[in-house]
Amino acid sequence: MLERLEELERKALVDLEGVESEGDLNAWKVKYLGRSAELSTILAELRELPKADRPSVGRRANQVKTAMEQALEAKRNALKAAALERSLKEERLDVTLPGRPIPRGRLHPANQTLRQIYAIWAQMGFQIYLSRDVETDDYNFGLLNIPEHHPARDMWDTFHTTEPGILLRTHTSPGQIHAMRERAPEPIRVILPGMCYRYEQATARYEIQFNQVEGLAVGHSITFADLKGTLNDFARRMFSPQVRTRFRASHFPFTEPSAEMDIECFLCNGAGCSVCRRSGWLEILGCGMVHPVVLHNGGYDPQMFSGFAFGMGPERISMLKHGIEDIRHFWANDLRFLEQF
Ligand code: FA5
Repeated sequence: MLERLEELERKALVDLEGVESEGDLNAWKVKYLGRSAELSTILAELRELPKADRPSVGRRANQVKTAMEQALEAKRNALKAAALERSLKEERLDVTLPGRPIPRGRLHPANQTLRQIYAIWAQMGFQIYLSRDVETDDYNFGLLNIPEHHPARDMWDTFHTTEPGILLRTHTSPGQIHAMRERAPEPIRVILPGMCYRYEQATARYEIQFNQVEGLAVGHSITFADLKGTLNDFARRMFSPQVRTRFRASHFPFTEPSAEMDIECFLCNGAGCSVCRRSGWLEILGCGMVHPVVLHNGGYDPQMFSGFAFGMGPERISMLKHGIEDIRHFWANDLRFLEQF
């Protein structure tokens, strides 16, 4: 029996040397240390030996068992160490490499221009007044001196809702009435920014949704000279201190007189180029003195109060400043465009 034990130990240890995976190791354990392993059989057979031989054979059997268990543990540790070594080699991490840059968000170009516009008007003492995108027909047109069926309504192609008399505002001018009705008879100096919506064919210069920044000043003895001076000051702060401006007569039903303001084309300095269509001038806003009917609808006595108003398109201003050739880029969400700003 001692010989069987010697042979068993030798064979088990030779076998163990050939083991290379966790799976093989478990199989080895079942084969040599499991319940039906040869060692268990030998231990069971001890009872059949002469009494005198039992202690020495028993001792030897236990030694073999311990040797096999120790060898198993050593092999398990060796396999683990080898696996670790392998994974370290395969997934080697070079901590000296520079990190991957994290993509940073940025302000949308329309918001960049809007913030610049807000800052300039804030410096001139104008507060921001927000009014709603969904309006009544009355606020968008009627109260602004554009009665139903008046041909001037054709200037604004309108998105109507299924609710009669409810529409998406076509301009920020209805905010004038909200601001006046809230503040009358106090003087007013506000800008009214926001999205506007028009049922138009989208082209390089016309979008179906775009921002406007409206301005409104109401007080005693405000004149057209105040309007010109204030807008000239805005243009100098927005574009350059040397920028030249001109006012052209125009027509809006809610202002009288009405005008459009141009700035000298800063790309060709007035010489004429493709951006200004050879005219040397770029239109940036519509404006005028608040019509007496509108002042009255807002709760001010036109005999005692006067005011000026203007409305500009920040996307059009961004296009001029950055040489953007198509307004549809603004809401197309193409990162190749947005990442340039
Ligand atoms: C108006 O909407 C007037 N409410 C402006 C105004 C306010 C005049 C107060 C007098 C007093 P107009 O339709 O021209 O005017 O639009 C004003 C500006 O909005 C334009 O100069 C342009 O910059 C911008 N805009 C108008 N339509 C579009 C469009 N479809 N896409 C992009 N920008 C537009």
